[in-house]
Amino acid sequence: MSTETTETTDREPAVLNLKPLHLGPLTVDVPVVLAPMAGVTNKSFRKLCREYGGGLYVTEMVTARALVERRPESLRIIHHDPDETPRSIQIYGVDAVNVGRAVRMVAQEDRADHIDLNFGCPVPKVTKRGGGSALPWKTDLFRAIVSTAVREAGDIPVTVKMRIGIDDEHQTYLDAGRMARDEGVAAVALHGRTLEQHYSGTANWDAIARLREALPDIPVLGNGDIFSAEDAVRMVEHTGVDGVVVGRGCQGRPWLFGDLQAAFEGSPRRFRPGVRKVADTVYRHAELLTEEFGDEAKGCREIRKHVSWYFKGYPVGGELRAKMAQVPSLAALRELLDQLDLDAPYPGADVEGPRGRAGSPKRPHLPDGWLDSRILGDAERLGLAAAELDVSGG
Ligand SMILES: Cc1cc2nc3c(=O)[nH]c(=O)nc-3n(C[C@H](O)[C@H](O)[C@H](O)COP(=O)(O)O)c2cc1C
Repeated sequence: MSTETTETTDREPAVLNLKPLHLGPLTVDVPVVLAPMAGVTNKSFRKLCREYGGGLYVTEMVTARALVERRPESLRIIHHDPDETPRSIQIYGVDAVNVGRAVRMVAQEDRADHIDLNFGCPVPKVTKRGGGSALPWKTDLFRAIVSTAVREAGDIPVTVKMRIGIDDEHQTYLDAGRMARDEGVAAVALHGRTLEQHYSGTANWDAIARLREALPDIPVLGNGDIFSAEDAVRMVEHTGVDGVVVGRGCQGRPWLFGDLQAAFEGSPRRFRPGVRKVADTVYRHAELLTEEFGDEAKGCREIRKHVSWYFKGYPVGGELRAKMAQVPSLAALRELLDQLDLDAPYPGADVEGPRGRAGSPKRPHLPDGWLDSRILGDAERLGLAAAELDVSGG
């Protein structure tokens, strides 16, 4: 039985002829972006992904206020390995002053080569105060944050990442995309879901195509439901986007970036790891996390969620899975991994398809009267301050 990590598929490769992605002075040869994911896209995971393919690898989001306060966790989030280039970070903020300060700090201290602004967070405790994906509804606030960030960033390209809007009746992406373009962003990324959809259903790629058409003068990046290189090719063909942003599809599969690069180069080469390769990667990931957090127990707590993603669809018994989901140390992890059938090959379809967060639509939680006006009221401004406290996830 083969445990080869790669194989050549017999599919006819599509020829896309996608150009490198130009973000201001940056050129990203492979127009693929690792989506920022809180608790996932830290330095360790980015390193594993980078080893497989080119692209832009974005940090977890950091809140503007926490960054300005130089909280250790925020500084960890925006830290890059010396060989990581370009250095991309994502900032989340709800007011122009704090976002401006955070961007200025990053620029003055040369801490990044690219800054993405997060306007997609669907977490109820954030949106019920008007933050995250509720924010672009207030056009004055959105414009102020974007223009301040672009101004303070100087030569560093700024991009925005957003959702379609609040729900089908309250879409914001076309207005927000045009405003962001007018304020000088280098690109716009659209997750083809509304706040109401959360992670449910399917991403609306037609909306992504409409945004591509509406903004002929800047790159538009498409995001949502890319779980394979073939999905990425389909998205480009369907929408005409200049690049793709991939989130859940790479959870437990850093090699997806190898597949994406191959597909965009017209090659049929795909990574199809057997159990041994996956087990080795899990262990290495845990070692990297231990190093990043400077704490083995924390590294092992962090690897637990990844383990279920890594072994999705692989022949791993329930008992071993349960033990790995509580693994206390690197030595214990090694011992558990050694109990796997390391010669088992790539299982095929069971590994592929959707993975990660899904769920059902959720009624949007918004401040009272939020939808009555697209201009921010004074009371709403006060409420927003609390939207930035204690956030994680997008
Ligand atoms: C665990 C998790 C954490 C996320 N954290 C962030 C974040 O920090 N910033 C952000 O803009 N989006 C965040 N997202 C949203 C993703 O970047 C992406 O837009 C979304 O998952 C849709 O893309 P996908 O279908 O490729 O997963 C997160 C998503 C997940 C699943």
